[in-house]
Amino acid sequence: MCGIVGYIGRSNAREIIVTGLERLEYRGYDSAGLTVFNDKKNTFDIFKDIGRVSILKETTKQVLSRVGIGHTRWATHGKVTALNAHPHTSSSGRFIIVHNGVIENFQQLKDQYLKLASFKSDTDTEVVAHLIEGFASYMTVENAILTTLKLLHGSYALLIVDQQDPDTIYAAKNKPPLLVGVSEDGVTITSDVLALAGVSKNYHVMEDKTFVVAKKDEVKLYNYDHEALELNWQKVNVDVTQTEKGNFDHFMLKEINEQPGVIRRIISEYFTGYKSNIDSRLLKTIKESERIYILAAGTSMHAGLIGKYFFEKLAGKPVEVHIASEFAYHMPLLVSKPFFILISQSGETADLRACLLKLKQFKYQTLTVTNVITSTLAREADFKLEIFAGPEIAVASTKAYIAQMAVLALIAYELSAKLFDIKMELAKVAQAIENFLFDPTPIKALVEKVFIKEHAFYIGRGMDYALALEGALKLKEISYIHTEGFAAGELKHGTIALIEEGTPVVAIISEEEMNMNTRSNLHEVKSRGAVSIIITMDSLKQKGDDIILDDVYPILAPLLMIVPTQMIAYFAALDRGYDIDKPRNLAKSVTVE
Ligand code: M6R
Repeated sequence: MCGIVGYIGRSNAREIIVTGLERLEYRGYDSAGLTVFNDKKNTFDIFKDIGRVSILKETTKQVLSRVGIGHTRWATHGKVTALNAHPHTSSSGRFIIVHNGVIENFQQLKDQYLKLASFKSDTDTEVVAHLIEGFASYMTVENAILTTLKLLHGSYALLIVDQQDPDTIYAAKNKPPLLVGVSEDGVTITSDVLALAGVSKNYHVMEDKTFVVAKKDEVKLYNYDHEALELNWQKVNVDVTQTEKGNFDHFMLKEINEQPGVIRRIISEYFTGYKSNIDSRLLKTIKESERIYILAAGTSMHAGLIGKYFFEKLAGKPVEVHIASEFAYHMPLLVSKPFFILISQSGETADLRACLLKLKQFKYQTLTVTNVITSTLAREADFKLEIFAGPEIAVASTKAYIAQMAVLALIAYELSAKLFDIKMELAKVAQAIENFLFDPTPIKALVEKVFIKEHAFYIGRGMDYALALEGALKLKEISYIHTEGFAAGELKHGTIALIEEGTPVVAIISEEEMNMNTRSNLHEVKSRGAVSIIITMDSLKQKGDDIILDDVYPILAPLLMIVPTQMIAYFAALDRGYDIDKPRNLAKSVTVE
């Protein structure tokens, strides 16, 4: 949550910061701000306001500078106001900081150290700037920052500049990501490698509780005891064109359409001929475990629910799926030999990191399935597998969800008796998605006619129930229609009371065994006024069904069946004129617990 970019060097800092923030806007977009050093006035100028980076870009377009730090915010403490936007300053204005994360003990720090200070914002962040200034009155700046850092509880990626020393940027982090990029031209410090594309050649991924002192030609890394550490450089290898919309109106639409390609890429990345290259040590460790525990949040958790079916049906391996934020503090009783799979598109989700830190204390074996192979969760797990979805920019996850399911299917398949050709069957799924997406106009018309109410439901049984949860999440997060996903048989046990004249109820039917049951449940709601929509496959269709997809291998059906729900959500949001890629109150990468 929140994106930060700092630059010091020979190029125009404002340009690099604003371009970087535009690429990081997925992390939060309530407000944006930056500070850059003004050589003529010999001071750091601050620009910040509510709204998007595009506003900051416009208001700072004349600004030239060689050093600065910037921020795009997802509000946690304090409303979305210009005063609460970053950067924040110390009492005299000497220290200026941007922050991603939450300082959990900010109130206690205020009470203990800053009773007389007056604060300009309602944020947890401002306390950090005040503390540094206080300590800097009787120690070096580096020691003042380190002393402050040792007092902080919570999560932070911080950039700090000092009005008295425009030749230095200080950076520190605990939990949220922070990368230091370098080129002959200067140093860029940021939350995501996307901001380094075209700017830095190599980058170092900062570990927790490390501190960087950056000058235009020099980067020094320390631990919190001020002992020098070695930097580990890796190449910046990002194709920025992947972060552009191309011919599509929205990233979400582009990413939905990329799904067949993602499935094909996964096949080519994970197979050499018919031999899969999934680490045999990983497969052995899972085989030897008694039970798999899948941990994740949001859409990734929904992929985990489908993964449970893959592991149980294909490989006979029992699976429990847990919401990361629950598991982190209420760990259930575990079997004596558990294996943990953490699923995260971003690899940075704080709720999941809290789980991983606990699991590591117990020395449990862990696998991270992620789209960002350099991410914290990937680096810290025992095993990692990449989902190869390419950058997903729209906040609503689509192609990453399908890719997560595909990779889980491959692991389960490798543990199974391999009774079908998964490469061929996945290729058929990719083709079926393409066939469906060829002409989406009927879906658009259907959505405009039916999704006109405040509430909606998705229902299904078995795997289709797990899909119903994801279909509902997608619809509510971008169209703001209140939507619930329900086990089809469960509605009549209470929730059916909410069905009114015209309430849309979408049924997903991909499993033959439950085809007729789900249809009966639909009759129950239809007779109470609901408008039903059926998404099914060719071999299960009945007269009057609304969305009929090609038949695919049954266990892989979720990868196809979800696509119409994505398009329903897309068209519903489009019809209402909402910001599809950046829905209200949300951010793509959730780095606070
Ligand atoms: O990066 P992660 O996969 O760990 O993110 C988890 C959720 O925040 C995420 O899946 C969220 O639910 C989606 N953006 C919803 O579309």
